Amino acid sequence: MDLTRRSFLGSGTALAAGAPARTYAANDRLEVGVIGTGARAHELIAALQQIEGVAITAVVDAYKGRLARAIERTGGRARAYKSYQEILAEKSIDAVVVATPDHWHRTMVLEAIRAGKDVYCEKPLTYRSSEGIEIMRAAQAAGRIVQVGSQGMSSQLQRKAKETIRAGKVGKVTIIRAAFNRNTASGAWIYPLPPDASPQTVDWEMFLGPAPKRPFNLERFFRWRCYEDYSGGIATDLFVHLCTTIHFLMDAQAPASVVALGQLYRWKESRDAGIYDTLNAVLEYPEGFVVNLSSTFNNQTTAEGSFQFLGTEGTLTLAGGAMTLHPESAVEDNLWIVESWPRALQEAYYRDPKVRQSEVVGSWKPQVAEGAQQFQEQGQDATVSHFRHWQESIRTRKAYWEDAAAGHRAAACAHMVNLSARRRRLVEWDFAADDIKRG
Ligand SMILES: NC(=O)c1ccc[n+]([C@@H]2O[C@H](COP(=O)([O-])OP(=O)(O)OC[C@H]3O[C@@H](n4cnc5c(N)ncnc54)[C@H](O)[C@@H]3O)[C@@H](O)[C@H]2O)c1
Repeated sequence: MDLTRRSFLGSGTALAAGAPARTYAANDRLEVGVIGTGARAHELIAALQQIEGVAITAVVDAYKGRLARAIERTGGRARAYKSYQEILAEKSIDAVVVATPDHWHRTMVLEAIRAGKDVYCEKPLTYRSSEGIEIMRAAQAAGRIVQVGSQGMSSQLQRKAKETIRAGKVGKVTIIRAAFNRNTASGAWIYPLPPDASPQTVDWEMFLGPAPKRPFNLERFFRWRCYEDYSGGIATDLFVHLCTTIHFLMDAQAPASVVALGQLYRWKESRDAGIYDTLNAVLEYPEGFVVNLSSTFNNQTTAEGSFQFLGTEGTLTLAGGAMTLHPESAVEDNLWIVESWPRALQEAYYRDPKVRQSEVVGSWKPQVAEGAQQFQEQGQDATVSHFRHWQESIRTRKAYWEDAAAGHRAAACAHMVNLSARRRRLVEWDFAADDIKRG
């Protein structure tokens, strides 16, 4: 933060208490602290450094190796802090990026808001659904920007897909299929452990935080997605991206009902029983469409994060960095029915000019769609675009689409999927409470 703005804005305490809207001039420098400098944070740091007017000045992590690498990645410009609380207490820091495991998100985001910081929190915003409501309320009361990190929705491709659906080119969409399939150990979150990891380099208590106390364990620390204490598995790690995109493209908020089934077929030794490697869910939306979410860690036929929006006028596919629009070419063909009638009636049927105009005789199978249009992803990386939106929101004090509410609802879908799979029953959304229906 530059000096003129600091004196104009006053202290962090004043911001936390009343938070008068800050006005950021285009040439102001945004000072950012990164909380948790793990694998994702290194990508975030690389993306943030591409944005003019942003300076990463503070970093903290529970493993020394990653902290050192983060400082190196900032060209030595960021300073290492001992705890995230120390970063939040730093008055010069305007905003923080939270990229810790999911069980920490609520605490860190709420404390950051209280400290007067704007926040970029990695998906899923929450570890439990009710935390989303707390975060939404806190952000609103304090006038803080909270943006959630499902960056795909800032890509050119997803914006193009949204426009295409809005323009009616897909017709009425009633089914959306979305999938995330993998077939490797690293895809199943069994990551290599850094050889220097030990109680001397890993701060176990810092990692645990609000999670249940357990003895030091490097698998839990580096492969936390495999354990229910820190993660909701496929649903919170992967489905949350799919739901964010679907909500964004379809202008939808939340599904009224969800049913799901989860299985652990293959990667049993490496994880808790509730962290499935095969998960299928159906989400029913009040806007009049249904979503099939599917994921397996035992086959990778479908591209990661692929979507099919099935509409009455066409099919919109998002996969492998491309959007394809296949127009429908559905035609009536009643030949096989009419052929069972008396011959004279069949002949009369086909003499009718209306039938001749509207039916293709003997086409039988669905027509091959002609005139498919394809668009390749262009422009900058989605994470960079997502950060630009965040920077803009911080300047204008107007939240971008993926705010705390959007982040809460996408994460809540994942929590509904897990609840349904674990209880083996239907889970409903309470629209008045903006949260999962109790019971
Ligand atoms: N948007 C995306 O495409 C995307 C991709 C990957 C991960 N993510 C999200 O990013 C987050 C981090 O995932 P990851 O893969 O980088 O995990 P990771 O384990 O590589 O990194 C998490 C880091 O947080 C640190 N940490 C834990 N507790 C801390 C504390 N109290 N203070 C400071 N640091 C602490 C750990 O030491 C670790 O280095 C998750 O929420 C994940 O869902 C998002």
